[in-house]
Amino acid sequence: MTRYSKVIGTGAYLPSTIRTNEQISETVDTSDSWIYERTGIKSRRIAGPNESAASMAEIAARLALEAANCDANSIDLIIVATGTPDRVYPSTGCLLQQRLNIKNCVAFDIQAACSGSIFALSIADQYIKSGAAQTVLIVGTEICSRIVDWNDRGTCILFGDGAGAVLLSASNEAGILSTHIHSDGEYEDLLYCPNPQVATELNKHETGVINMRGNEVFKMAVNTLGKIVDETLEANNMDKSAIDWLVPHQANIRIIMATAKKLKMSMDQVVVTLEHQGNTSSASVLIAFNEAVRDGRIQRGQVVLLEAFGAGFTWGSALLKY
Ligand code: UT7
Repeated sequence: MTRYSKVIGTGAYLPSTIRTNEQISETVDTSDSWIYERTGIKSRRIAGPNESAASMAEIAARLALEAANCDANSIDLIIVATGTPDRVYPSTGCLLQQRLNIKNCVAFDIQAACSGSIFALSIADQYIKSGAAQTVLIVGTEICSRIVDWNDRGTCILFGDGAGAVLLSASNEAGILSTHIHSDGEYEDLLYCPNPQVATELNKHETGVINMRGNEVFKMAVNTLGKIVDETLEANNMDKSAIDWLVPHQANIRIIMATAKKLKMSMDQVVVTLEHQGNTSSASVLIAFNEAVRDGRIQRGQVVLLEAFGAGFTWGSALLKY
């Protein structure tokens, strides 16, 4: 019998503080209309001074556990995707394990920038399918606001904070149908965030903020996401009409619309959260997935395509039957 990874619970957390386009326009040369027209974003959430990637991850994880009616100690693997870990080490996964008071599981972080949750889904699926794990908690959690240059209008308008979680369990019923992940390190200079504490002589003057050549990243994202959609459909011998929902990474509404167009999907079948959340990097796909599961749009048995593109470049997709 085929062994699948099945979604048994989802959760998400967004900090309460809202930063609007108007507020950003008070400090940098931009406007609400420019930001909304070019990105689809109106506001984003900003974590409070006592919040961290681990604290937000804990709230999202507890909601996913509650939705699945699952005891934390049944988790045998935690994978946290984050580009803004609380500490260099221990991993945010271990900090989350401590917060959830789980005595006996494996926990680690992965770093794949905005594609982090898709990479984590792919890793978790391999562990479950092989029999190495039974129940896996995945969390994407980001405090982008602390690595954004609030004087750079090309990036500060885009990012927000939050966490999304999904709990997967081994099942004989169809769940994750396939995952596809890719990396290409050639494009480091288009999108990166330095780590000044470990700088070399060459990059010791860099500050630890997001640097992005937005327009070039935009074009790469549109092309690459088009290709990953084809790859996913081909691998499953599936027609685009079989997909009920697209849950894309929330970077820019124009990138999302291009992928929907490629799939000939109406925007009613696309889960869009970026208007009031911005780009929450590795958390964005799981936050959007959770929203559509909880408000009843995504129903059991439906086919869902999740996809993302981010720094590295990294990109990937996960096709699942919910
Ligand atoms: O999640 C990881 C992946 N990240 C992404 O996918 C982000 C992809 N990139 C984007 O979303 C878009 O490229 C941006 C929203 C960042 C920028 O939009 P764009 O349509 O690509 O604009 P652009 O960079 O080509 O700039 C067009 C003009 C420039 O002015 P000039 O040279 O034409 O006079 C920019 O200086 O818009 C100017 N500009 C702005 N104007 C007002 C750039 N940012 C702003 C701003 N407000 N915030």
